[in-house]
This record gives sequence, C-alpha cells and structure tokens, in this order.
Amino acid sequence: MTFNIQTSANHYARASKLTPSGVHSSTRAKAPHPIYFSKGKGGEVWDVDGNRYLDLIMGNGAIMLGHGDQAVQESVQNALGTGLTTGIESELAVEVAQQFLDIVSTMNMVRFANTGTEAVMHALHVARHHTGKVRLAKMEGSYHGWSDELFISCWPDMSKNGSPDAPVSLAGSLGLHPSMVDSTMVLPFNDVERTQKLIEQHANELAAVILEPVLIDIGYIPPTTEYLKALRDLCTKHNIVLIFDELLTGFRVAPGGASQAYGVVPDLATYGKVLANGYPMAALAGKENLMRLTEPGQGPVFVGTFNANVIPLAAAHATLPQLKDGSVQATLNDRTKKLKSIFSEEATSLNIPAQLVGEGGHLHWYFSDQTITDYRSATSTNAKAYAAFNQVLSDSGVLVMANPLSHHAISLGHHDDVITELGAIFREGLKAAASAFN
Ligand SMILES: Cc1ncc(COP(=O)(O)O)c(C=O)c1O
Repeated sequence: MTFNIQTSANHYARASKLTPSGVHSSTRAKAPHPIYFSKGKGGEVWDVDGNRYLDLIMGNGAIMLGHGDQAVQESVQNALGTGLTTGIESELAVEVAQQFLDIVSTMNMVRFANTGTEAVMHALHVARHHTGKVRLAKMEGSYHGWSDELFISCWPDMSKNGSPDAPVSLAGSLGLHPSMVDSTMVLPFNDVERTQKLIEQHANELAAVILEPVLIDIGYIPPTTEYLKALRDLCTKHNIVLIFDELLTGFRVAPGGASQAYGVVPDLATYGKVLANGYPMAALAGKENLMRLTEPGQGPVFVGTFNANVIPLAAAHATLPQLKDGSVQATLNDRTKKLKSIFSEEATSLNIPAQLVGEGGHLHWYFSDQTITDYRSATSTNAKAYAAFNQVLSDSGVLVMANPLSHHAISLGHHDDVITELGAIFREGLKAAASAFN
C-alpha cells in the first residue's frame, strides 16, 4: 500500500526548524519524517493526509479503552465546563482516590502526580528517608522513566553489560549524573540465586529494589511467582523498600495490577498510563506508614503544580469503573489469544522461531527459539526478522515501534474486525520475516 504523506512532509519541514527532529518525545522520530496525526477512534488513527492506520502503539500502552472512549470524552467535557484546572483540591480528586483504592486494594493510600518518572522519583525519596540508606537496585532491562538514578541498563549494550553474576550499571542517556549511575545496582530478572547474592552483599546500602513486575518495556516477560516472593522476603528481611513500578502492569494484568495477579504485595507502587486512558496522570500508592511520610513536615516533599489536575482526574473517573470487574481485561486476553493462534499457526507452517506474547492488551513478538525470561534472553530475538515483519506491518498501515525490544498494545477499541485484519497482516509479516532466516 502506498500512502500519500505529503502534508506530514510539509509539517515536518516546519516542525524540524522549531523542534529537534520535529517530535516532542524522541521515540517518535522517524525516517524520512514523522507522521502527524489529526484524529483517533477506537484502535484506529488518521493522519493529516487522511490515511487511516491501525494503532498498535496506543500511547505507549496508556490507552486501553481505545482512542476517544465515549465515557471518558463526556467526563472530560463536563470537567471543562467547571472552569477548574489545577493548583487546588477538588471533590473529583477525593472520588478518584476512592475508586483507585477500591480497585488497587493491596494499597492503603494514594497520591496523584502527572508522569511515571515523577511518581517513581517520589517512591525513591520515601524509600531513602524511611530506611536511612541511599543506593537503589533495579532489573536489567526495566524502564522507570528518565531520571538520573534509574535510566540505567534499560536496553544495555550486550558487549558492555558484563556477567549476569553482577550486571554492569550502564547509563541509558548521555548527560546523566555519573555518580548516580554508578550508585544504582542492576539485578538479573527472574534469577533468584544471583539476585539474592547481590542483594545480600549490598543490603546495608540498599534503600529500595524497584522492578516492573512483568518486564514489559522490553516486550513482555512475566516473572516467576517464586522470584517475586523471594524479592519480597529479602526486602522485608533487610529493611529494603520493595517498589513495584506498575505503569504498564497496573489495571491490565489484573484490575489490581501485578500485586493482585501474583499475590505479592510491595511496600510502594507506582501507576499511570491507563489510569486516565491517555490523559497525563500518575500515582504513588503504598502502605499507610510510608505514604504518610509524604505529609508536610514528616519527610520527603510531595508537590506539583499539575498534581490532581481536574481534566486527567475526570478521565480517570470514567476509566476506572470500566476496568474494575476484569471484563475489559478478559476481552483483551481473548482477542490476544486469537492473534496468538494465527501467529503461531503461520510461524509453524513457515518453520520459523517466532513467539507472540502478552496479556491485558500488551502484545509483543520475539523471533527466537529461546524461552525469554530476562533481558539477555530477549536479545536473542532476530533483529532482521523483526525489521522485515514490521516493514510489512508499516506498509499495511499498522503503527509499530522500530526497536525490536519495544512493546505494543491493543485496546477495547480493537474490535473483532480489526483483529481479523491484523491477523491477516501478521501472516504476511511472518512470510517476510521467514526470509531473514534463509
Ligand atoms: C514501567 C514504566 N515506568 C515508568 C515510565 C515513565 O513514565 P512517564 O513516561 O509517564 O514518565 C514508563 C513509561 O514508559 C514505564 O513504562
């Protein structure tokens, strides 16, 4: 399919003089130029030239009900009518906090922020203040935003990341504070023995262990329950705060997120993304004694001009009730199952190692015959096959990420006809991927 994207090209000609690479988040940069969009509905978006795309990026996993969900739109319209925005408290904030804790019932208290990066930074401050310790430990391959202390070893260079016995802490960006990068320890996800050894060696220095309980920022890698339980026990034993970063697992792997799905409760947890179905909102939640440390005069500061802004709150107010009983999650799992069965049927008939993985609407494809359990096994994916598969998807009007270790998602707006269409495109993509193995 050839798309006429001349208007996008014209916008880029202007945008690239105003904004680096013409985009406001670098993952959206694209050769020869980004596409600029004008409309979204359900699982589809339209660009400024009128071309229609099937969206598998879905706001980097932030949009679970689909673009332009009617209840969310109406709630936001009502909030706009009040004239309120930010800087003051509202009844809506009280109601959404109640809705949140009714769903995420493993947590005692919640405070709202705007982005995941911020919510995570608040969690780290609480952990340091509570334990009197400084260093942090994170998983190799996990992403927790772009702070100096955690934008580390997210997609590390395999020639530099050392032995799995002690993965090297590698900066994810230039310009990070080197001493913070060195201070953060990196742990091998799903490896109980090595993780235990590393935590025990450094227990006196560690304020927090933070993880994406399912490693989704490098595709979709579930934990073993044994691993989560081992982390829980080690953190309790050594006075280390266990933090689940539920930005991507929250409301998806179960209504109450990973802590509900796996029955392991952290001390603090962060949420965002689908919390407000694409509107900017995040949350820090946790045990009451830790959350109360953020009260004025008690410990770490918790402030923000846009915290509990009325517009995202209105979006969350209409989103959370839809995610409460688990039916949206079940529908997305059914649709994912259909895609998985088409994918594996085609991959088997082509005799290529390809796995479609994901739950709760998350979706990713690895071209590997290895069992993917951590970052290092995920890098066994065949990048050429991934590129060939994605080229077919892009050429067919499907929005996908270029990085072979990125993540994708469907939404409630990806109805059965869209799933059928995607299934047919996946078959063609797999045929192209097969050539990469020859
Ligand atoms: C697991 C996880 N944590 C934190 C973040 C950072 O969130 P934000 O982009 O809202 O700052 C992300 C964003 O992709 C994420 O996936």
